[in-house]
Formats: sequence, structure tokens, C-alpha cells
Amino acid sequence: MPELKHRVQITDLEFKNEKTPYSPHFRDVYFSPESGIEESRYVYLEGSGALAAITESKPELTISEIGFGAGLNFLLTLQEFRRSRPTGTLRYFSFENHPVRKSSLETLYQNIPELREESRMLLEAYPVLAPGVHLLRFFGGSVSLYLCLGDATELLGELDFKADHWYWDGFAPSRNPEAFSEPLFDQVALHSKTGTRGASFTAAGWVRRTLETKGFEVRKREGYGHKRECITAEFKGQPREIDREPWFSTTSQKRLVPGMHVAVLGAGLAGSAIARALAERNFHVLVFDPNGVAGRASSNPVGLFNAQLSKIPNPVSRFSQLSLISHLRELERLKIKSSRGILRTDIHDPSPLLRSDYPADFFEVQDRGIFFPGCGMIDPRELCRSRLNHPLIRIETRAVTSVQRSDDRIGLHLMTEDRPLLFDHVVYCLGADPKLPGVSEFHDALHDLNPTRPIRGQIIFTDPVSGSGTLPHALVEEGYATPLIEGHHVIGATYQAKTILPDQEERDTETLLSSAQKWPVFAGLKREHVRRTKTGYRLSTPDKLPMVGPLCDPEWMKNHYERDLRGAKTRTGPPLRAPQGEWLLTGLGSRGITYSSLSAEILAEWMTGSPIPLERELLEHIHSARFFVRKLRKSGVE
Ligand SMILES: Cc1cc2nc3c(=O)[nH]c(=O)nc-3n(C[C@H](O)[C@H](O)[C@H](O)COP(=O)(O)OP(=O)(O)OC[C@H]3O[C@@H](n4cnc5c(N)ncnc54)[C@H](O)[C@@H]3O)c2cc1C
Ligand SMILES: C[S@@+](CC[C@H](N)C(=O)[O-])C[C@H]1O[C@@H](n2cnc3c(N)ncnc32)[C@H](O)[C@@H]1O
Repeated sequence: MPELKHRVQITDLEFKNEKTPYSPHFRDVYFSPESGIEESRYVYLEGSGALAAITESKPELTISEIGFGAGLNFLLTLQEFRRSRPTGTLRYFSFENHPVRKSSLETLYQNIPELREESRMLLEAYPVLAPGVHLLRFFGGSVSLYLCLGDATELLGELDFKADHWYWDGFAPSRNPEAFSEPLFDQVALHSKTGTRGASFTAAGWVRRTLETKGFEVRKREGYGHKRECITAEFKGQPREIDREPWFSTTSQKRLVPGMHVAVLGAGLAGSAIARALAERNFHVLVFDPNGVAGRASSNPVGLFNAQLSKIPNPVSRFSQLSLISHLRELERLKIKSSRGILRTDIHDPSPLLRSDYPADFFEVQDRGIFFPGCGMIDPRELCRSRLNHPLIRIETRAVTSVQRSDDRIGLHLMTEDRPLLFDHVVYCLGADPKLPGVSEFHDALHDLNPTRPIRGQIIFTDPVSGSGTLPHALVEEGYATPLIEGHHVIGATYQAKTILPDQEERDTETLLSSAQKWPVFAGLKREHVRRTKTGYRLSTPDKLPMVGPLCDPEWMKNHYERDLRGAKTRTGPPLRAPQGEWLLTGLGSRGITYSSLSAEILAEWMTGSPIPLERELLEHIHSARFFVRKLRKSGVE
């Protein structure tokens, strides 16, 4: 992944004549000084046909915008949606490579009382401004904002959706030709259907001609106020398929639609996250777990949510970053208690943070390391319970003993029932111990291709030592140490993938003590301070990324893809076939808290056939079929 791909530059608005937001970088205003609201409504909402579609209550509507800027177009669209109260859904993709800092938006919105409620909602959901897609949901999910941070042309190439309406609002073409360029409009055409309409404030001849060469019929309209002209355009071309590799198909799976029955197996961090994500999309979910809520790996009393760094952004650091941001929003939404602040004493140089586009206020460089005021710790059990506390979720603690498939439905056998319970969709979130007849066969057959493995981990609970009791936040280096929690520090965590020795517990305790003793505040920590230990197993993948997507059929994959994939660069082949309606969310490794949150949002969108809120490149790095696709590609499989 090239170093600077999807880079964003966070922007502070400047104000001309006190009220007009202005970009010093592009030397242009965001919207008209006289009447931004009226002009934007006229040029974009009316001009693109979006306003009429909203008031006609079209059941599903997709709007896409080049240039989120100060969010005015979005807020106006949201307001119209709210006013007309259609029963349908609105998806709003907006691309922005210079996202505006939240504090700037707060100042700006004080001058726009007409949009008070909408701007409050946007500010509440506004994410940490890192590159990539941020899915923000409003009105119980009937409006989804895909805030896509990075260069519009690049990101469009990474996303699969078709727009009904476009707002082309990337500053004046003379100031910013890139936002009206050929490659950008190629992507616009690819993401359009016959009849898709778009609008722009500019009527520049070369912009009109570029649009025409891409299949749009362009018409000039009278401009707003003193402006002479603006444009409206309609796509008359043939819609094209967005070309993707079939083995990573996201459209060939059975779609979850209202009225279908869903089961989730496992009530740990993975299962609770997907159950919640589906319940928030109005599906009834039955969660099975013989060990109750958070009974296995997710049963620690404390876990950290932390930033993962790398010298240059890579799939792990990027997915971790987006996951952390998604989790921070989840904490706000579910009002889960957390204790904030992590001091990382293993890093002193902030440049990886800046390179991965963490905003400068996300961390503080201190003498002893780098402090992250927004990261912290929570009780994972509490997180699982809060997620599952939803009227559409029921929990069943009888054990599922096997899985059977018949007539497009999935039968779950329970210990005490003669007949299986039938479901349309099942999500397996079985963690490190997936021994379930009907599912394990897939795991076993895949074992060679899908090298996940359980990794033992241990934490210890210690008494405070001199001075440690006042530690205000968690410390992280090789391991971590927490401030006092119910009278004890928690020190974690070990990783043991190999043979577990008879004295493993003692060895791990020693390892944890010696890693903590390196911090001056824990220098006096000794064996006699250890009150108890706790172990668990997390399911880990070799690339440290989760497994998200359909439960794939290895035999079918081998038969259909082996020839195509071996050493070849081909992108052709039949679309991925998997047992229909069966899904995996697992392999969360040692990042279950953050990974579960974003993975579940992605999987829920995937299951419901919605556009996936993640760049294609990253999706292929978490796809449940990736290990055998890689293996087939390399060598074929015997
Ligand atoms: C020592 C240790 C420290 C950790 N520290 C952190 C940390 O600081 N931060 C962090 O983010 N992560 C941490 N983790 C990782 C995190 O705990 C895991 O990633 C996470 O718990 C995995 O969640 P899961 O839902 O996949 O698995 P689990 O929590 O194990 O859930 C799987 C569930 O599936 C159920 N199940 C199994 N078979 C069936 C069946 N047939 N039917 C129904 N249900 C079934 C099991 O009962 C179990 O409850 C730590 C892990 C360990 C072990
Ligand atoms: C006129 S402003 C948009 C105003 C916005 N639609 C609103 O309603 O507030 C133009 C925006 O386009 C963004 N932009 C310019 N070129 C871009 C590109 N290549 N990719 C993504 N965003 C871009 C700019 O950073 C700027 O925020």
C-alpha cells in the first residue's frame, strides 16, 4: 500500500467577512456569503433531482457528493428527509480530502440556526478524521452517511455503489481542476445508473464537455443570485458493472431481508457486536451461547482499546485505526463507562502517528512516551451486555449441538430438542473453540488454507505497591498495567501459541511481573503481590486481521478457482459460492474490543446487501476467504 494513499489534511475554516467559510488552501469559499442555504438547495438539491425524489418518498435513494466541505448540502438533505418523513432509506456518500475540524464546524453552525437540529446530530456523530470510510447512521439507520475521507477519485475506485443523484461541489474548477477531472468523472459514470442525475454550481465549458464524454447529457440552468449559470446533467450511458474479483464477491450471497430469522452463535465480543448491529437494523436476533454472555475469551474484567501504529500505514494499522474510531463512536452511542488515557512508553517518535493521519489532538508527546487521551479501558463483559441489551435480541443458553442445511434454511440442533430450529441466516462467532458438527468440517477442511490458531493469554491481578495506587491511567509497553480496579492492578497479557507447559501459569506470571517492573512505578512489584491469575484463548490469524464474511466452501473454491488463480493475475471466474446465509465473524485475536465494532458494522451491511463501508482493498484483507485465495494463487492446493 503506497505511503500517501488516502491521505487527508485536516482543515480549520477561515472566515471572510466574519461569516463566510473560506479555504486558504484552495483560495475559495465553501458556499455563498449571501445565502448559502438557498443557493445550495437550489443548485444541488433541486438541480440534481434529489429534492423531488425525497419528497416523493422513493423507498431507497443514494446521493453522492464530491466535497463534503462544511456539510451544508448534507444537512439540507437531512432536513428535507426529516421534514418529508419518508418511510424509505437514504444513503449519502460524501468524499472529502480536506475534512474540516469539528471545532470549526461548531463555530460555523452557530451562524446557521435554521439547521440547528441537523447540525447537532452531525456534530454528535462526527468521527476522528482519519482516512477511509466512516459510516454514520441517523434516524435509527434510515439515513446513512458514508463519510469517505481521502481523494474522491481513489476512494470511488474502492467502493461499490450506484448513485441516483450527484452533487459536484469541489470548489471552482479554476481553483481545483482535480475535482472535475477525467479520471474522477470516469468513476462518477461507473457509479451511475441510466437516469442518474447530477448538479454543479459551475457551468465551465470544459467541465460540461468532460461530463458529456462520460455519457451525461448536460443542461445549463439559470444560476442563483448574481451567478449567471449552473448545470444539471443526466446519465444517458449504459450502466457498467463495477469489475471485482469473483472470489471476493460481496453480492453473490443471500440477502437478509425483513421478516427473516437470524441466529448468532456465540455471545462474546464478536457475537454481541453483530447481534447489536443487526438489531439496530430492525432484525430480531436469537443469540446462542451455552456459556452465557461473555463467558469465554471476552470474560476479562478489563481490556484496552488502543491505537496500533506502524512506520507506514498498512492494512493492519489502517483497519485498526478505523476500528478504534468506530468503537469510540459506539462507546458514545451506547453510553458505556470507560476509563480514558493510555501512556505508551514504547514510543517516543510521533511521526508514525502523523503518517497514519491521526489528528494532532489525538495524542500528546510527553517525556516518558506518547499519551493518548481518547484511548483507554473498558470492561468487555459490560460491553457485551450493553450491546445485547436491545429489545430485538434474545439470548438462549442451551447448547447448539450441530448444524444442518436444508431447502435454503439452516437447522440448529439443540441438546434438548428433537427437531432443529430453522433460520435464514446464521452468524458463527465461536471464538477459539469452534467445535460444532456441521461447521467444524468447514474449519477442518480449511485448516490448511485458513491458518487461524488459538493463542493462550494470561493476566494477573496484583496489590498496589508504593505509589502505584495513584496511577491515573493505563501504561503500555510490552504488556499493559492498569490503574487500580476494585483494589487491584491488572497486568497483561501473555501470548502462548505453542505447547502449553505444566508450569505455564507460573512462567506467564513471571513474564508479566518482569514486564511491569520496567516501569518505575511498579519497580517494587513482586510475586507476593499477585492475588490471582486468569487465562483465556483468543483466535488469532497470521496477518492479525479478523475473519469477516461468508462461511466458504473449500471444496467448491478449489474446484472453481484453482485453475484460474494459480500464479495468474486473472480477475475472471464464477462469483463466490458459499453455503447461503452462513457467515463468520471471528479471528479477533488480541483486538476484540475494537475489531468487533467495525467488523460487525461491515458484516451487517454485507448481509443486508448494502454497500460495504470499507475500501475494497481493506475488505480483501479481512475477507473470510482470503487465506485460501492466497494459497490457491501461490501454489494451488493438492
Ligand atoms: C488474556 C487476554 C487479554 C486480552 N486483552 C485484550 C485487550 O486488552 N483488548 C482487546 O481488544 N482484546 C483483548 N483480548 C482479546 C479479546 O478478549 C478477544 O479478541 C475476544 O474476547 C474474542 O471474542 P470472541 O467473541 O471472538 O470470542 P469469545 O469471547 O471466546 O466468544 C466465543 C463464544 O462462542 C461460544 N460458543 C462456542 N461454541 C458454541 C456453540 N456450539 N454454540 C453457541 N456458542 C458457542 C463460547 O461459549 C464463547 O462464549 C484479550 C484476550 C485474552 C485471552
Ligand atoms: C465547495 S467545498 C464543498 C462544500 C460542501 N458541499 C458543503 O455543502 O459544505 C469543496 C470541498 O471539496 C473538497 N475537495 C476538493 N478536491 C477534492 C478531491 N479531489 N477529493 C475529495 N474532496 C475534494 C475540498 O476539500 C472542499 O472541502
